[in-house]
Amino acid sequence: MARLLVPVVLALSFCTTLVASVSLPVTKRVDRSKLKNLAHADRARVKALLHPVHPSNERARKPPSVQAQNTGFTYTVDVGVGEPATTYSLIVDTGSSNTWVGADPQKPFVYSNSTRNTTEVVGVSYGSGFFAGDALFDTISLSSSPSPLTAHNQSLGSATVSSGFEGFDGILGLGPTILTNETVTNAELVPTVIDTLFAQRKIKERVVGVAFTPLNEHVRNGPRGSGSVSFGAVDHSQFVGPVSYVPVTSTFPSSLFFGVDASFKYGSSHKPLLGKTAGIVDTGTSLLLLATDAYTRYIKATGATFDTTVGLLRLTARQYRNLKPLQVRIGAGGETYVVTPDAQILPRTLNVDVGGKGEAYYLIVADLGQESGTGLDFVLGQSFLERFYSVYDSGANGDDGKARVGFAYTRYTFSLSNGLNVTGSW
Ligand SMILES: *[C@@H]1O[C@H](CO)[C@@H](O)[C@H](O)[C@H]1NC(C)=O
Ligand SMILES: *[C@@H]1O[C@H](CO)[C@@H](O)[C@H](O)[C@H]1NC(C)=O
Ligand SMILES: *[C@@H]1O[C@H](CO)[C@@H](O)[C@H](O)[C@H]1NC(C)=O
Ligand SMILES: *[C@@H]1O[C@H](CO)[C@@H](O)[C@H](O)[C@H]1NC(C)=O
Ligand SMILES: *[C@@H]1O[C@H](CO)[C@@H](O)[C@H](O)[C@H]1NC(C)=O
Repeated sequence: MARLLVPVVLALSFCTTLVASVSLPVTKRVDRSKLKNLAHADRARVKALLHPVHPSNERARKPPSVQAQNTGFTYTVDVGVGEPATTYSLIVDTGSSNTWVGADPQKPFVYSNSTRNTTEVVGVSYGSGFFAGDALFDTISLSSSPSPLTAHNQSLGSATVSSGFEGFDGILGLGPTILTNETVTNAELVPTVIDTLFAQRKIKERVVGVAFTPLNEHVRNGPRGSGSVSFGAVDHSQFVGPVSYVPVTSTFPSSLFFGVDASFKYGSSHKPLLGKTAGIVDTGTSLLLLATDAYTRYIKATGATFDTTVGLLRLTARQYRNLKPLQVRIGAGGETYVVTPDAQILPRTLNVDVGGKGEAYYLIVADLGQESGTGLDFVLGQSFLERFYSVYDSGANGDDGKARVGFAYTRYTFSLSNGLNVTGSW
């Protein structure tokens, strides 16, 4: 019996591979000149996420008063726009939902014969900057060969002004549709790239899978080793074991994002650092941010010192040897994700770049900048996402109410690479 079942199983798994999806390599860009205020830049982003001021009308086209805080770590993916396509290197952002190009004045939007102009304008402000420009429609292609995923008539922005994204071409907005609200004049919501691919039946599920690689690991993996992002399905080659899903939290304002309910514990302590509460998962945040009260408990538990030069918590070698795992339990009765001591430190390769000392250990757990209880009490940023595969599912039937977030362990979950001091390029 068991033997007879084998061909059936094989046939089924063959069928599932026919679901249209693509997996594209991502590039992690480290801007050494921007590494001295990682936590500060992350907090500025949280502020902007919580209080969006979309510069989508002429009055607001002037730069917003919040000072742009560029982030030191950015993941990008190459996306084709137009027919014939021009390739842009766009920031992978699950915390915003508009897709736009033209951040680099040297590489403006290229009009092609698939471009459909409108008279509307579009604008979004981010903690790291803002853009405003012309709203238009064009073809987007993800990957070139052998068969790209192509979305026609995708709503896009062509930036006429922007700040804070020097060195990048624009943003690929992978967040929920609701975040596009009032970003385009005379429109309430505009479809995201994922929405358009789904509506045009190019993908069967509104799913994005993100695999980010710890910095010192991709020095070993070579130039294309920063990870990948898949569209339309998860990429089974990027995780081990199952993906566990939890519904997007119902707690506002985390509910607007890929927000989840989670609790945080340090070591074997019975008292949590942060009891079950809502926060977000965000590819555009560098660190792991905890509400101030939880962050304070983390300092007490680890004995860390705040390093005013680096803007991060610091441990001595001895304290680091005693550092315990940070346990993140996601969802009601859900899975616990273990953030190992190695995963709680900044790659030591960067100690000097962040303005720190060679022998120290800098922590990636940072202050969110507000006490818990606001409905957004933590951010699981890149430091967490480099240890766990993450899945952003906007709802299989185009129903935002069914949105969920998934996580899985990866070959890097227990990597000891952050403790190494690797010389190489990335
Ligand atoms: C329109 O696209 C086609 C196909 O790529 C190209 O051959 C042609 O030159 C384009 N026409 C214009 C006017 O740009
Ligand atoms: C769309 O707008 C651009 C920039 O203003 C212009 O160069 C282009 O010719 C316009 N295309 C059409 C089809 O009107
Ligand atoms: C894109 O929009 C144009 C103009 O409205 C329409 O003619 C065309 O059919 C649309 N294409 C797709 C693939 O939806
Ligand atoms: C968009 O924002 C406006 C103004 O804040 C609000 O009235 C409207 O309900 C929002 N739309 C959606 C779909 O949430
Ligand atoms: C890493 O190596 C560099 C260059 O050899 C050195 O300056 C730095 O202090 C080292 N950092 C650590 C954490 O050992």
